[in-house]
Amino acid sequence: MPASATLPRLPLPKDRAQHLSSLVEGLDEISLWWLSGYAAGLAGKLAPPAEAQPEPRSEPEAGTRLTIVYGSQTGNAKRVAEQLSRQLEAAGLHVRVLRADAYPLRELAKERWLYVVISTQGDGDPPDDARGFVDFLSGRRAPKLESLSYAVLGLGDSGYPQFCVTGQKLDARFAELGANRLLDFAAADLDIETIAEPWTRRALDSARDALRVPAIPTNVTPLRPHAEPAESTWSPTRPFAAEVLANQRITATDSSKDVRHIELDLRGAGFDYEPGDALGVLPRNPPELVEAVLESLHLDGGAEIAHAGDTHPLREWLLTKRELTRLARPFVDALAARNGDTALRSLLQPGQGEALRALLSTQQPIDLLRRYPVEWSGEQLVAALRPLAPRLYSIASSRAVVGDEVHLTVAHVECTSGPDTRWGAASHWLATRVEGGSIEVYLERNERFRLPTDPDRDIIMIGPGTGVAPFRAFLQQRSGSGARGRHWLFFGNPHFRSDFLYQTEWQAALNDGSLQRLDLAFSRDQEQKIHVQQRLRENGRELFDWLENGAHLYVCGATAMARDVEAALRAVIAEHGARTPEAADEYLAALRDSHRHARDIY
Ligand SMILES: Cc1cc2nc3c(=O)[nH]c(=O)nc-3n(C[C@H](O)[C@H](O)[C@H](O)COP(=O)(O)OP(=O)(O)OC[C@H]3O[C@@H](n4cnc5c(N)ncnc54)[C@H](O)[C@@H]3O)c2cc1C
Ligand SMILES: Cc1cc2nc3c(=O)[nH]c(=O)nc-3n(C[C@H](O)[C@H](O)[C@H](O)COP(=O)(O)O)c2cc1C
Repeated sequence: MPASATLPRLPLPKDRAQHLSSLVEGLDEISLWWLSGYAAGLAGKLAPPAEAQPEPRSEPEAGTRLTIVYGSQTGNAKRVAEQLSRQLEAAGLHVRVLRADAYPLRELAKERWLYVVISTQGDGDPPDDARGFVDFLSGRRAPKLESLSYAVLGLGDSGYPQFCVTGQKLDARFAELGANRLLDFAAADLDIETIAEPWTRRALDSARDALRVPAIPTNVTPLRPHAEPAESTWSPTRPFAAEVLANQRITATDSSKDVRHIELDLRGAGFDYEPGDALGVLPRNPPELVEAVLESLHLDGGAEIAHAGDTHPLREWLLTKRELTRLARPFVDALAARNGDTALRSLLQPGQGEALRALLSTQQPIDLLRRYPVEWSGEQLVAALRPLAPRLYSIASSRAVVGDEVHLTVAHVECTSGPDTRWGAASHWLATRVEGGSIEVYLERNERFRLPTDPDRDIIMIGPGTGVAPFRAFLQQRSGSGARGRHWLFFGNPHFRSDFLYQTEWQAALNDGSLQRLDLAFSRDQEQKIHVQQRLRENGRELFDWLENGAHLYVCGATAMARDVEAALRAVIAEHGARTPEAADEYLAALRDSHRHARDIY
């Protein structure tokens, strides 16, 4: 049963049913299965009808069972962990795979075999579902782990200066606590499988040796981190070509932001998306940029280039297969090694974090190629660039309202660099698609970001800018289903007149009673900037009352905003809940742990 499914008619009194409903709220599949087993076990104890007694299932001892824990924000680490688990099981091992917030921390001291697959988020932070796990391990209460053997796979993006630091720190911490490292820490970049595939093979071998399981059956399928379980058809390696039905600018033409409402046709795809899910988009790089890169290196775009077993014309590599808009450290390393410029090399020295951060976040590869010229062959260029990764966009529609369509809210990333315009690969690709064109997409589920299963629960949605997208989906879904819970939206952007995304829809929702509260922060409409976090503080009393009354709290949008919003929420809870800052933190953590507080941050 998916965590978001509504409860069937229950043979329980109403108050018990409500308790049960809040207990299962937001639990993932594994926790639900565990709970069902627990309940079945209790039922067995209460009334053991001899004929219905199942075979006693011996739970494997910690010594013979391997645990995989994953921490994942957008599903990649989860996918790798689940595939590793399938392979270990196929090899005959006892395995359990747990999301980090479902891992019973008190069992850690007894754990014998542990694999951790964890991504890094924010600015070197753990994913939300692993915050408790990482905090516990990093803190003073962490037990000695001398009988534990472990291995950690980190997932990250070398475009961030804090590349894979969460996994790295965990790996070091396990060692510090006395655990035995089975495999060296591995850090997977956006081309996850390049590292994850060999790591998984080694993890399988180590586990087999350690737990003395003889041979791998020949039918074990190789790991492909992006390959989905059999039931799902579309994936980053096999995307669905969705036709563009609409591409409409929803900010005024004189706005500093070009935000698009995009509607795609999903007929024939069979996507059963839910509000909270994201759509993965396979971008293409701007042709102008490809030509500029070819020109800067005096390379022939038609030349056939072989790399890692694939051969394509160089232009094709650059248009569809390599990152040309995001700068990452491996590219800077390769360029510095070839060009030898001392200023560039010095940026890569330890202690230059801030300068490197600025370089990675403000420059594109073309800027560096022009500033630090090199003679590279097509093969060398393709090898220095990372594979082009899909981008995620929060789904802004509910199937209950739009049927076989999906809607997105996309900010066109565009800026100038001298005489040139620079774009973001995916947002430019989406913004320049016209009706009738097609976009390659797949569905990225997000079980963490779900409406309450109880339709009577209130929800608080904080979504400035394009962060409002999933809340359009939430509201469509809830108003269509007759939910009685109240809805409160906090939205912000620079100007009321030019940047009020979906203004008429929110106003209609206020009028028809499906949206109870709308608080707005248009930052540049007055001298003093106002952001959503100020609105949170101003409405602190009521906000806290909603939370005390069981409301679910959602935050979506930019990383910096999410940090400020978190601080404001902490302040509101401390003030109106008469708590210390530490106790306010615990309050928020408890909301997170009970799946009443979810964030989608980018
Ligand atoms: C779970 C999730 C949900 C998301 N939902 C949405 C959504 O609903 N709507 C939406 O618009 N985006 C959303 N994003 C962000 C989206 O995935 C892309 O990161 C974004 O569109 C930029 O991608 P790009 O390919 O256009 O730019 P890139 O090619 O990735 O970046 C090009 C350059 O621009 C810089 N850059 C990237 N983003 C910005 C920015 N916002 N402002 C200034 N410079 C930038 C980069 O540092 C880089 O130098 C979401 C991300 C995640 C993880
Ligand atoms: C908002 C945001 C911040 C990120 N910050 C980092 C970072 O600081 N360091 C890093 O190595 N990767 C960072 N990443 C990249 C993710 O770790 C990477 O995409 C990973 O594959 C995600 O795995 P997950 O889906 O399991 O969370 C960030 C990604 C996002 C969306």
